[in-house]
Amino acid sequence: MSTLTALSRRAQAVAPFLAMDVMAAAGARERRGEGVVHMEVGQPSAPAPRAVIAAAQAALADGRIPYTEALGLPALRARIARHYAETYGVTVSPERVVVTTGSSAGFVLAFLALFDAGARIGVPRPGYPAYDGILRALDLIPQPLTLQAEDRYAPTSALVGAVHAAHPLSGLLVMSPANPSGTVIAPARLAELCATARGLGLAFISDEIYHGLSYGVPTATALQFDEGAVVINSFSKFYCMTGWRIGWMVVPEALVRPVERLAQNLYISAPYLSQVAALAAFDTLDEIVAIREGYARNRALLLDALPSLGFTDIHPVDGAFYLYADIARHTNDASAFCRRMLDEAGVAATPGLDFDPEEGGHHIRFSFAGSNTECAEAVARLKGWLRP
Ligand SMILES: Cc1ncc(COP(=O)(O)O)c(C=O)c1O
Repeated sequence: MSTLTALSRRAQAVAPFLAMDVMAAAGARERRGEGVVHMEVGQPSAPAPRAVIAAAQAALADGRIPYTEALGLPALRARIARHYAETYGVTVSPERVVVTTGSSAGFVLAFLALFDAGARIGVPRPGYPAYDGILRALDLIPQPLTLQAEDRYAPTSALVGAVHAAHPLSGLLVMSPANPSGTVIAPARLAELCATARGLGLAFISDEIYHGLSYGVPTATALQFDEGAVVINSFSKFYCMTGWRIGWMVVPEALVRPVERLAQNLYISAPYLSQVAALAAFDTLDEIVAIREGYARNRALLLDALPSLGFTDIHPVDGAFYLYADIARHTNDASAFCRRMLDEAGVAATPGLDFDPEEGGHHIRFSFAGSNTECAEAVARLKGWLRP
């Protein structure tokens, strides 16, 4: 008997995540007993810091795992506010901090609080694919800001102005360090973008989820330049806590209550256990610095080895843990290329189409968030696979 399933226009507008499809194909290969080096998904292979796990274990032993206030545990909000003073010298009152279920929920809350259906938001391209997906699911319009490799894939005020003139925007979303390019927007450029957005009357949303992961270049928070910016961050990447689903946002005072009302209704509160664990995260810097040194070694190894393996056109990697390679000299079909690389070399990477439907056909992204051994294994497997 067939059932009639209604499918909303919004749901139909949301594209799949190709990285997840690669992960599924890699999983199938592993179940056949064939090895895979996973470089397709952006998550650290290191576990969460020991103190984080201990804090969660203690809370679990206590047994009572309650809801919290919708904006998050006051102690965690205060600790996050302190992080801004310590790291950037910026004063943020704890009242402006909202604890979320990963940064992903932060985007939903920010978009819902700031924009009405049909609003157009400028998003970086290449960029994190879920921006488009979330915006479309909320009946908002992602307006690509097409970034140029020659400009290190960093947005410029001129680009924002031109896009806004052609397709009037209500908001601007930037990320630094960026996924997939690894680009860090220089502090002066970020200040300029904040000023441009303010001048044009656009809401400014800054995805700072890869902050702390940069290699010899400074990262600035948008809050240094604009108190009205909405900053979104997460424990997922820097603190190796992807599956804990815990993140935060800093919002201007006027948004606190609207965001609180939305959070109360949408999910009540972020998970208590993860909030308690996250509170311990800020005091684990020694462990995290060692992990970041591992990424730096992976980065150096790949930047050194990949060109001689045929990946000659690699975008400079300022931060995050991604390497974005232009493979135009080999193919225009990055999906088939990644499938073949997985089948023949056992190395999983993500086709650029996830991040850029226009130019992504000749790009791939490697994640180097795994161990040094995994990265060295990937290099060994790719030896001789491509003719340089
Ligand atoms: C740029 C960027 N923003 C946000 C996220 C979402 O992360 P989470 O919801 O785990 O905080 C990711 C995940 O890969 C990302 O790359």
